[in-house]
Amino acid sequence: MEEFRKALDIAISQVRKNIPNFTEKCQNHSSVNGFYPPCENDQWTCGFWPGELWLSYEATGEKVFRDTAEVQVKSFINRIEKKISVDHHDMGFLYSPSCVAAWKITGDEDAKKGAIKAADQLLGRWQEKGQFLQAWGAMDSNDNYRYIIDCLLNTPLLYWASRETKNPEYAKKARLHTATCMKNSIREDGSTYHTFFMDRQTGEPLRGVTCQGYKNDSYWARGQAWGIYGTALAYRYDRREEYKAMFQKTLDFYLKKLPKDMIPYWDMIFNDQNARHDGETEPKDSSSASIVACGLLDMARQLEEGGARDSQDEIKRYRELAEKMIRSLIEKYSVKDSGVSNGLVLHGTYSKKSPYNTCTPEGVDECVSWGDYFYMEALTRITNPNWTLYW
Ligand code: GLY
Repeated sequence: MEEFRKALDIAISQVRKNIPNFTEKCQNHSSVNGFYPPCENDQWTCGFWPGELWLSYEATGEKVFRDTAEVQVKSFINRIEKKISVDHHDMGFLYSPSCVAAWKITGDEDAKKGAIKAADQLLGRWQEKGQFLQAWGAMDSNDNYRYIIDCLLNTPLLYWASRETKNPEYAKKARLHTATCMKNSIREDGSTYHTFFMDRQTGEPLRGVTCQGYKNDSYWARGQAWGIYGTALAYRYDRREEYKAMFQKTLDFYLKKLPKDMIPYWDMIFNDQNARHDGETEPKDSSSASIVACGLLDMARQLEEGGARDSQDEIKRYRELAEKMIRSLIEKYSVKDSGVSNGLVLHGTYSKKSPYNTCTPEGVDECVSWGDYFYMEALTRITNPNWTLYW
């Protein structure tokens, strides 16, 4: 436990050092040569920095973290009221670790209203034909008629909104979207498609296509991680045994593809034997490991809360796996010297261009904002097992 507490302390002191540069400004999605530049509140990733501030506040009770988080929360309320860069599905990534966290921790009514508006915005992404929440782009174009596996982290905002408003519509759409995703996005072997196109006329599933993975039939490491934590959260909010089975299946695949140090290459088609491609060493995605660790710890907690005696081995296994992953991150990936980086975890990969994918290359082998947040969430979950999740 000592090593995890110490790692959380180091992360918190790094967050503290970042406050002067990131009070009015947000943190860019990824670092540039190890350092996050400030940005406006207009990226899909801006919720993770206030999430780190809330985690720091919960761990220390220090007012400076709360005060800074509250400046950020005001900016998020403004963003949803003025509809600044919210024409996409990432309302959960933005509003769960900022405004929902504020509401849960301090009872801030304005933050709650902002988060409900964000849930309304997410409902605006609903496509009846195909029963899914559309990820990106105009709602009336064939080219955009798809959802992505990452959205399993956006749907918890809808479950939360239903609980708070007593309006079942949000949760209904979350359940239907999740069912569509589970049916199409998880392959027979437990690997996952990043994005999935549906037929605009008939609503039938069309095909899985990558955007940020290496190629359509490879295994993008972060998509797999969204699948693992996402199925754990799906099980938390809609207790279907098939969701737990999906969690197990996606996890088993992930574990089979991990290199020795438990931190995946950015696409799991690469491994320690063939990590080189076209003469280049493939980078890792450390953020994938932090996300998976959170999924493991969440499932362990759900099983423990369920109280089934025959789950004891499973609970122990999930915790041990999560601790092993986080230990590896602490030892070989975490930032211990703020002269090297203003982030928390090195060697994340946002989007690496391959000959077969469609992404814009950004943040390759850098710190990534969600990687830092989920690393802190995992450390928080380990050191404070009763922590109330923001999702
Ligand atoms: N949700 C987008 C990403 O993981 O890069």
